[in-house]
Amino acid sequence: MTNNKMYIIANWKMHDNSKSFKSLKRVAKLSNLKIFRKLKIIYCPTYTQITELINIFRKSKVEIGAQNCHHISEEGPYTGKVNARIIKKTGAKFVIIGHSETRSCGETLKNINHKIKSAIKENLKVILCIGETSSDKRKNKTKKVIERQIITALKNNNIKENLFIAYEPVWAIGSGIIPTNKELKFNLDLIKKILSKIGKKNIDILYGGSVNPKNINSLIKIKTLKGFLVGTASLNTKKFIDIIKKLIN
Ligand code: PGA
Repeated sequence: MTNNKMYIIANWKMHDNSKSFKSLKRVAKLSNLKIFRKLKIIYCPTYTQITELINIFRKSKVEIGAQNCHHISEEGPYTGKVNARIIKKTGAKFVIIGHSETRSCGETLKNINHKIKSAIKENLKVILCIGETSSDKRKNKTKKVIERQIITALKNNNIKENLFIAYEPVWAIGSGIIPTNKELKFNLDLIKKILSKIGKKNIDILYGGSVNPKNINSLIKIKTLKGFLVGTASLNTKKFIDIIKKLIN
């Protein structure tokens, strides 16, 4: 997917956040400005708010994504699940897959592999989340964990486009702590090497985990990064706009 675009993705998780709907018009306006043409803004709300956000952003360049999809492509008796085909029908263009919060609810490496295949089949752009836990990090298992997550997710899958890797160390998510730039660069190089080993070296890499208007100043110095996945700070439109503005300076 590599081009010279930067991606900023709001992951609203299981937050209603409808109180911010009015303020989203400001993001819509920004996205239409010429200076923001190299920045792609994507909102991933809950399934039930996808259509509403698509309407809010109708006349803007902002795109909408889902936070997960079921691993089975066909419709069927899967109570409470939503697959890629149904997501696609809403007009959403992106889907987050393999977030640590879905992995921790029983999602397997095989599920993730199937989810990616079904999303790509529906022409959705996939944001594949990977990252080590604090225990992996303590035990020096980061490389092993990341390698396994990438290789199993992309096994028997010849996609080279419509895919992003979001490196999200689990210990950085919602904790207010982010890796040092040195640590981050080291792990990003590792991810690049793994991707290149499996013939997918052009995949854009994003970072996620406690990104906020302050620490973005140092994160943007890492040129390997093509964007950010923002949870908590994206729920506050002012903070999210602050981050967006720093990405174009
Ligand atoms: P956070 O969440 O920004 O609140 O750490 C990021 C994510 O989980 O994608």
